[in-house]
Amino acid sequence: MEIKMLESIDYDVVARLLYESYIPQWNNTGCPEWNTEYIEYLIKSYIKPRNGLCIGALKDGTLVGIGFGYINDWMVSELGKITTICVCNLGVLPAHQRRGVATGIIKKLEEDAQNRGVHLIYRICNEELNDHKGFAQARYAKKLNNVYQMARIMGKEMIDTTAKLKGYGRGVKMLLKAIAGFPKEKNKIQYGTIREGTEADIAACIELLNSYQNIAEISQVWSENEFANIINNGIILQKKPFALIYYVWEVDGIVKAFVAGRFEKIIYERGTGISAIISHAGFAGDLDRKDKTSFIVSVLYEIKAREPNTFATNLAVAHHEEKAFDKAGFNNDRSTRPLYVKSLNDSVNEWVQTPWKYKRYCIPYQR
Ligand SMILES: CC(C)(COP(=O)(O)OP(=O)(O)OC[C@H]1O[C@@H](n2cnc3c(N)ncnc32)[C@H](O)[C@@H]1OP(=O)(O)O)[C@@H](O)C(=O)NCCC(=O)NCCS
Repeated sequence: MEIKMLESIDYDVVARLLYESYIPQWNNTGCPEWNTEYIEYLIKSYIKPRNGLCIGALKDGTLVGIGFGYINDWMVSELGKITTICVCNLGVLPAHQRRGVATGIIKKLEEDAQNRGVHLIYRICNEELNDHKGFAQARYAKKLNNVYQMARIMGKEMIDTTAKLKGYGRGVKMLLKAIAGFPKEKNKIQYGTIREGTEADIAACIELLNSYQNIAEISQVWSENEFANIINNGIILQKKPFALIYYVWEVDGIVKAFVAGRFEKIIYERGTGISAIISHAGFAGDLDRKDKTSFIVSVLYEIKAREPNTFATNLAVAHHEEKAFDKAGFNNDRSTRPLYVKSLNDSVNEWVQTPWKYKRYCIPYQR
């Protein structure tokens, strides 16, 4: 088996490899329909802007495993700015699994990242799946129990769909029907306007995102180029229902809040559904919790109007604004996404070894 950095990326080949790797294992958990455009979007939005890593495992010249590294900067309250790499899009074809291929890919990612001066390598795992077992075995430390996940069912009428897709029994379904709800219309924003974001809003969104550096224990350090890639490449997501989500709340000509993300087609053993992933959100510091929640409620209404069959919203950014999202009042279908990390630089060893009792953090996310 040859494990090496790939010089060029064939989006079609990568999409097929991830699809065939994921589908057999992601029955109840669900995974995005890895298709060519979706892969192109993820790579151009997250990997290319910082010259991230793409490692392939080849058997007799054929690609049988793949893993990417999304490079990004964190501001850490105790340390200042560090550079990190997120292991993402990791898959090994079923016929080649359990032979150390993923372990080899991760090792190569570590080596190449270390050579580039990266301080920390991490992966946001899924407790219901096998990846965390591999990272634990490769001596990664579990630092946070649930990095971001707040998956929500988009109203009572979506409970049957969700229960079918996720294989919930009668009991869970009845419980959900009793407690489920979609936020009331009166809780939408009462002033200003919510509208689709444009390229002209990017600078304002960056300012909101970077302002968390003053108040959070871990936040991402954003450059305009990094965020612009996530928005401007949205045009690639043309295979319905995949589409960019980007809304801003404008008050007197000023952007007070925004969300960005995408609609994804999620495949389960029992069928497919449309989920809205909110992967980025920023709020002005002078908004109170109620205002923030109102904006989120308005966003949910926008999402539902655009794709009425969206069964769930998945928040990849909750921990900067967890309370505000929580209070939006639709029911919570929480699953657990632990953070596994490994130090690549002596300067962060001690920090990695001490317990993290953080409350306000946001770990950059890529699948
Ligand atoms: C997760 C995945 C990448 C692992 O690839 P792999 O090449 O089989 O992994 P390795 O052989 O290097 O396994 C390393 C360790 O991980 C754990 N592990 C991997 N697959 C496992 C499985 N199916 N069940 C239980 N443990 C597993 C084991 O501890 C294993 O060590 P061992 O074989 O000595 O017991 C592969 O199963 C896959 O492509 N899964 C679908 C996609 C996916 O879930 N990707 C992860 C991103 S969420």
